[in-house]
Amino acid sequence: METILEMRDIRKTFPGVVALNKVNLRVRAGEIHALVGENGAGKSTLMKVLSGVYPDGSYSGAIVYQGQERHFKGIHDSEQLGVIIIHQELALVPLLSIAENIFLGNETATRGVIDWMVAHSKTQALLKKWASRNRPPH
Ligand SMILES: Nc1ncnc2c1ncn2[C@@H]1O[C@H](COP(=O)(O)OP(=O)(O)O)[C@@H](O)[C@H]1O
Ligand SMILES: [Mg+2]
Repeated sequence: METILEMRDIRKTFPGVVALNKVNLRVRAGEIHALVGENGAGKSTLMKVLSGVYPDGSYSGAIVYQGQERHFKGIHDSEQLGVIIIHQELALVPLLSIAENIFLGNETATRGVIDWMVAHSKTQALLKKWASRNRPPH
């Protein structure tokens, strides 16, 4: 199978901590991988490097995605190419509505104005789908 992602020799340090050292990951098309390790092993850090949360220049090593070396400067760069991270520690904003939370940072806007009709109808569709899948059996 074709290799779609390679992380090569990734090293990432924080002050006083080596979080990742010489980490390699290779993913072929169609594969599902689980990253397993104890707390503090570096799983989240590796995914943050992959997605640009820790931007190019803040780690060493290479990310090759779809045949090209990538230098993500932020999550927008990686998301544009289809690298989407669902973070374990979900940050919800309590003061915002469900629709506002779902589309936070990903709003549909026309000339800088958020289209709440779109946000609400998409949210309604998502909630409906979720409810139909999670209906308890009779
Ligand atoms: N923002 C940060 N600042 C300083 N140290 C961090 C930071 N994030 C992670 N670390 C350290 O890096 C190591 C790897 O952490 P992490 O990637 O969160 O591990 P895991 O997700 O596998 O539990 C740990 O020693 C952790 O304390
Ligand atoms: Mg983690």
